[in-house]
Amino acid sequence: MKYYRKLVSVGLALTAIGLSLAALAAEPVTPKLTDKLSRLLQQEMRSVQSAMATIHVSMVTGDHKQVEAQAQQIHDSFILKQSLTEQDKKDLMAAVPEGFVTLDKDFHRLAAGLADAAKNKDTQKQYKLYNKMTGSCIACHSQYVSDRFDGLTEQ
Ligand code: HEC
Repeated sequence: MKYYRKLVSVGLALTAIGLSLAALAAEPVTPKLTDKLSRLLQQEMRSVQSAMATIHVSMVTGDHKQVEAQAQQIHDSFILKQSLTEQDKKDLMAAVPEGFVTLDKDFHRLAAGLADAAKNKDTQKQYKLYNKMTGSCIACHSQYVSDRFDGLTEQ
């Protein structure tokens, strides 16, 4: 009987660990953002999305100047670098985990690389970086925006 009770408590502990790991894997940041941050982020995302569409057609038609301009614009839109007040910065850091910040930084670094590849008229490199950027969209949305983009939860 004692043995059975031990087994049950081990089972419960394992379940608790499993649950907290699942929460770690996909914890949406959206409910934790202040209204202002949420508005800024959505605005940034819409401009990123439209820049990515323009980059796509410019890249496949060899319009390097346009690729460079749009990639530079994505790089500069970095929300963490925007003119956020000190309070906004604190709110942002309180709302998002480190992994989110890392992904955001990686994403904007890729955009800078894409601008460089465009300056060098290197289409193959642009293609590679463009795909990596698309991978960043999916990685961040599936991990941190799983509440809104529930079609990505299996990623
Ligand atoms: C580091 C994380 C991160 C990366 C990288 C990222 N996004 Fe997002 N995206 C978000 C978050 C968070 C939201 C939800 C914001 C909200 O609803 O408050 C969002 C929302 C969006 C939306 C909806 C905007 C709206 O009007 O509500 C679009 C479109 C979007 N992202 C496009 C993209 C594209 C395209 C890429 C890649 C080229 C990308 N995102 C990369 C975090 C990210």
